[in-house]
Amino acid sequence: MNQNEMKKAAGWAALEYVEPNTIVGVGTGSTVNHFIDALGSIKGEIEGAVSSSEESTRRLKELGIPVFDLNTVDQLSVYVDGADEINHNMQMVKGGGAALTREKIIAAVADKFVCIADESKLVKLLGDFPLPVEVIPMARSYVARQLVKLGGDPVYREGVITDNGNIILDVYNFNVENACELERQINAVVGVVTNGYFAERGADTLLLATPEGVKTSHR
Ligand code: 5RP
Repeated sequence: MNQNEMKKAAGWAALEYVEPNTIVGVGTGSTVNHFIDALGSIKGEIEGAVSSSEESTRRLKELGIPVFDLNTVDQLSVYVDGADEINHNMQMVKGGGAALTREKIIAAVADKFVCIADESKLVKLLGDFPLPVEVIPMARSYVARQLVKLGGDPVYREGVITDNGNIILDVYNFNVENACELERQINAVVGVVTNGYFAERGADTLLLATPEGVKTSHR
């Protein structure tokens, strides 16, 4: 099984967590694109979706799945999204696709976060994948200096503007012994919109695709 086939297996396995007649939280990325295809196969059984990016919204609409503004939705039973890294405590690094802020907002609203990933995403320690940080454009240099003080090496992601009109700094070499503390410290820097640690609010369930099949674990 190649990596894309594993992503597909994880995406389709997440259908089991979708409750009939509900609105489903939908993440962003190549693994989630398979989940969106899977949702298309049951579109008559759900009310619709809230989406974490313009790209996922486009795909959902293309399949005829209604997309709701999160402000009109009181409750979400499930949010399904991928990860760039996930550890055994279900803490993640996300934002490789620059959609981290909307992803974090929907994750906060949802009762359950189901992470879908291929086995390459499971790590002992977070930190090999550079941490994406969404930043208000005028604060770019100031935030970069503060991130250096926190121990990281930020690199401006050239040519990328987020769906919210901001820029991304990818931060290398953080010492991630306490991801919750680092998540809080980075978010406290003025000009940071949010960072890609999903440590405070990690996943509740991981559907990890391996060549032997999809393995399920819970927090
Ligand atoms: C986007 C994300 C994605 O979930 C993450 O980058 C994983 O993507 P993929 O499924 O393509 O490997 O956080 O902002």
